[in-house]
Amino acid sequence: MTQSEQKAIVASAAIDALIEHGEIFSGMKIGLGTGSTAEPAVRHLAKRIADGTLKDVKAVVTSFGTQNLCEELEIPVFSMNDKIIGGHLDLTIDGADEVDPFNNVIKGGGAALLREKIVAYNSSKFVIVADSTKIVKTLGTGFRLPVEIIGEARVPVIAALNALGAECFLREGVRKCGPVITDNGNQLLDIVWKEPVDPAEMEDKINSIVGVVENGFFTKNKPTVFTMNEDTKVIARQV
Ligand code: 5RP
Repeated sequence: MTQSEQKAIVASAAIDALIEHGEIFSGMKIGLGTGSTAEPAVRHLAKRIADGTLKDVKAVVTSFGTQNLCEELEIPVFSMNDKIIGGHLDLTIDGADEVDPFNNVIKGGGAALLREKIVAYNSSKFVIVADSTKIVKTLGTGFRLPVEIIGEARVPVIAALNALGAECFLREGVRKCGPVITDNGNQLLDIVWKEPVDPAEMEDKINSIVGVVENGFFTKNKPTVFTMNEDTKVIARQV
């Protein structure tokens, strides 16, 4: 099975299980993540709307990419600020770059971490879909942690991150000269440590640096993590 086949299987199974357990339901407000795992989850959600299982689902999206996908699939999209949403969601479903044994997560590989954290931290339930390659023992030394920054503050932010022991890399555009510009008009550093770090502590420390907008450690709203075990069984891990 390829990694993308696994993503699609786990994503569809997660949507169906959440419907079965009443955690995805008609009339709900749902946050939709970004990336190649979130996409099959959104597509499967759209199928369950089209087959009549779900009605009147209101989505808040986390990127232009997911906005376009919802337009294609005719899933109605709202802002967190719309009165009908009221700044709070019933559930958010998203992918991840890495997940540790305590369900701490690194996100932002697709540069959407800011809006992903806004929906995740303002949801009654947070769900991550992760193929088995995303499950790791520790965070900090593998996948580089994305940090969204104000471009004007790049040099002092890098100095402050270096003081926290991190090596920093400005994310460069592909077929676009210069840095990646996020959907929010900011730049991204991808940072890595020589030794594993405490993600909860680092999430707060990094966000206290002036010029940092948000970082990709998600430690505060612990997700249920749907993944696939060695027997190719889809499991839901809660801590
Ligand atoms: C986007 C994200 C994605 O969820 C993360 O990068 C995983 O991506 P994929 O599902 O394509 O492997 O955080 O900002």
